[in-house]
Amino acid sequence: MPKYEFPKGFTWGSATSSYQIEGAAKQDGRTDSIWDRFCQTPGNVLNSDNGDVSIDHYNKYKEDVALMKELGHAAYRFSVSWSRVLPDGVGKVNEKGLQFYSDLVDELISAGIEPFITIYHWDLPQILQEKGGWQNPDSVMWFEEYSKVLFEKFGDRVKFWCTLNEPYCAAFLGYYLGVHAPGYRDLGGAILASYHLMLAHGASVRLFRKMNIPGEIGITLNFTPSYPLTDSKEDKLASTYIDGYDVRWFADAVFKGTFPQDLLELFKERGVTLPDFSELNKAAEKLDFLGVNFYNSYTYRYNENSWPFYAEIVNQAVPKTDIGWPIHSEAFEELFVRLKDEYNAPKMYITENGCAYNDVMNENGEVLDYSRINYLSRHLKAVHSAIQKGVDIRGYLAWSLFDNFEWAHGYFQRFGIVFCDYDTLKRTPKQSAYWLREVIKNNGLD
Ligand code: FCB
Repeated sequence: MPKYEFPKGFTWGSATSSYQIEGAAKQDGRTDSIWDRFCQTPGNVLNSDNGDVSIDHYNKYKEDVALMKELGHAAYRFSVSWSRVLPDGVGKVNEKGLQFYSDLVDELISAGIEPFITIYHWDLPQILQEKGGWQNPDSVMWFEEYSKVLFEKFGDRVKFWCTLNEPYCAAFLGYYLGVHAPGYRDLGGAILASYHLMLAHGASVRLFRKMNIPGEIGITLNFTPSYPLTDSKEDKLASTYIDGYDVRWFADAVFKGTFPQDLLELFKERGVTLPDFSELNKAAEKLDFLGVNFYNSYTYRYNENSWPFYAEIVNQAVPKTDIGWPIHSEAFEELFVRLKDEYNAPKMYITENGCAYNDVMNENGEVLDYSRINYLSRHLKAVHSAIQKGVDIRGYLAWSLFDNFEWAHGYFQRFGIVFCDYDTLKRTPKQSAYWLREVIKNNGLD
C-alpha cells in the first residue's frame, strides 16, 4: 500500500488545449482565432512562434490517445477550437471540424479514457473579436450557441464539461495586461469582458440543464494565492487586494454571483470605469464540480506607487521552476481548504497542475526530468493532505500531457510529461510520465 493513498475511484489523467497542440490551423475549414492573429504581431510571442503546426495533434490524435493509454491515464481534458466548429463564430457548423472532436471522443472512449471537454480555452474566433469579443454583450449569446452545438453532438458520450478555462487569463491577461490575445491594455475593458465571460458561463450551464445532458458541468478557475511579506497592515492590505483579483474575483462570481466589494471600491477610488453588473447573479448557477488550476503563489509587499493594487511582487530566494514561478505546494493545500470553507465548493477536480523545465533529451534518448517528478510529488502530497482534511477532490489531471505552445512564451517553456521534438514531432515520454504511471497504478505515492 502506498504511503499516500488516494480514495478509491480517484481519476488520473492529463490535460491540453486546442490552440496549444492541434496545429492544422488552416485544415478542414478552420478559421483564425484571436491567438492566430495575436501571434502575427511581432513582439507578442517569444521567437514569433505560433500554433500553425504545433505538435500536429489534429492529424496525430490516434497515436496520442494510444500514448495516453500506454501511460495509464484514465481521463483526458482537452478543449474545442471554436473557429474549427463554427468558422463564422456563429451560424453554420463546419461538420469536418466537429467530426474531428467526435472521432477523438470515440477514440478516447474505446481506449477506456474519460473525456473532459473544455468548451473555451481562450481561442475566440477572430471574426467575433472584430465585433468586440468578450466586451460585446452579445458574446453571451454567441457562447450559448456554440455550447449548444457541442452539447448536441457530444452530450450522449461526454460526461464531464468545463464551460471556461481560466476566465481570469481570458479577461485580465487578454484585455488588461495585453500579454495574451487580443492584447488590449484597459482595466475597465477587462472588467467588462470578465462580466460577460461570467454571464456566458451561467448561460451555458442553464442550457446544459435545460437540455438534460446526462453529465456533469463545472468551470475551471486558476488560483494564484498571495501572501503578505510581513504582518504589517500595509503588506496585508496589498496582499488582500491581490487575493481579490487572483482568487476571489471569479470564485465570488461563480459561487455568490457578486464581485468582491473591496476591489470594486478600490477600482472606483482608482478611477476605473465600472460597467453595470446588475445581472451578475446569473453567473451563480449550481455547479456539479469545480475545476482547479494551480501552479504557484506569490508574496507581496505594499508599494504606494503600484497601480492599481498597491502591491509589488517580492522576488524571494525560494526554489522556482524554469519559467520563474515559485514552488509552493503548501499554498495548494491551503487553497483547497479555503475553497471548501469559504465557498462551500462542490467536489473538485484538479484540471491543471504542473511545471515548466528546460528539458533536454540525453544521448540515450531519455528525458530525465527529476525536477518535474519532485514538483508533481510535492503537489500530489498536498492534494492528499487536503483530502485527509475532508476536502472532496476527485481527480488530478496533469498539465500537460505534451510539451506545447505555451502562449506568449512560445515553445521555449516545456510543460509536458511527454517530450516533443518540434522538428520531427516525435513524442517521447519523459521520466515523469513513467513515474506518474506508477502513481496511477498504485493509486498513490510514497
Ligand atoms: C494555464 C493555462 C494553460 C497553460 C498553463 C501553463 O494558465 O490554462 O493553457 O498555459 O497555464
